[in-house]
Amino acid sequence: MKILSGIQPSGQLHIGNYFGMMQTMIAHMESDELYVFIVDLHALTSVRERDKLANGTLEAAADFLALGLDPDKCTFWVQSDVPEVCELTWVLSTLAPMGLIERCHSYKDKVAKGIAASHGLFSYPVLMAADILLYQAERVPVGKDQKQHLEVARDLAIKFNNEYGQTFVVPEPAIDESTAIVPGLDGQKMSKSYGNTIPIFMEGKELKKRVMAIETDATPVDAPKDPDKCNLYKIMKLFASKERMAEIHGLYVGGGAAYGYLKLELLELLNEKFGAARKKKAELLGDPAMLRAILGKGRDKAREKAIVTLDLVRDRVGLKY
Ligand code: ADP
Ligand code: TRP
Repeated sequence: MKILSGIQPSGQLHIGNYFGMMQTMIAHMESDELYVFIVDLHALTSVRERDKLANGTLEAAADFLALGLDPDKCTFWVQSDVPEVCELTWVLSTLAPMGLIERCHSYKDKVAKGIAASHGLFSYPVLMAADILLYQAERVPVGKDQKQHLEVARDLAIKFNNEYGQTFVVPEPAIDESTAIVPGLDGQKMSKSYGNTIPIFMEGKELKKRVMAIETDATPVDAPKDPDKCNLYKIMKLFASKERMAEIHGLYVGGGAAYGYLKLELLELLNEKFGAARKKKAELLGDPAMLRAILGKGRDKAREKAIVTLDLVRDRVGLKY
């Protein structure tokens, strides 16, 4: 199966990104044809500082590699290194009904959060559709927040195929319901733009401060609590073993769950889970030339596929004369 997903290099990656997308992608490495890329063109809609974007791209590459992505077992590249995606975006834009794009909630959400209302931000879903269709991806693992964008990609693939003849694979979203939305410190969706994250690569005191800041209610320790309403419980569930979660569940329902202790336990679990990756990331960032070489190889592999699809598209629509 051809599996593809991308991530924006627009900030520190957090455990929502990890469980919503990265972990799933890495798990597919052995069994599937995997495409993983860093969407710097998308990030340009919100990152205006040159160095922040450029360094963020290298850092996102180091994140993936440190977490176990093997570039020899997949195609791993930076979006803007394959310029064909921009041409396909234009072709799809001419087919994309205004109403379809206007209905996408992420534009309004991002503007409400203070991101400048640019045309690029508005047409973001069309670029994302081009990302997916250019590589003829069959499945796209994403968090629930991207579901609507996947629907746009599907609609545009179907529309193009109907108007010009079978050209694109119609992609399926792959959303893992158990981790579809990882809550943040405040219980809202964990997101870079809400400032409520637990970053994967944060360490020491800084990380402790974040974990201790997970919002919990004021129920006394001995009183019974509803685990399904507790933010800390939901995050804990992502890291603790099934057996330990059963015990913790018992403490919530029967009384005795002390939030402070549970937070310290979570901190330990975080360090265990990501300790090795943190070391590896530091090593990788120490050798940016090697990171660039890995991404260069990925670009060549990705471009080979992209050229085939774009050539067919040009022919189908009449851009070949
Ligand atoms: P952010 O909201 O922090 O800016 P992105 O939009 O860059 O994150 O998301 C990158 C990937 O991580 C996407 O596949 C997205 O669906 C997933 N993701 C982001 N936040 C979460 C979350 N809180 N829970 C589950 N998946 C998430
Ligand atoms: N829009 C996605 C996000 O913010 C990132 C993305 C861009 C993407 N292109 C993609 C995800 C193609 C999957 C497939 O998370």
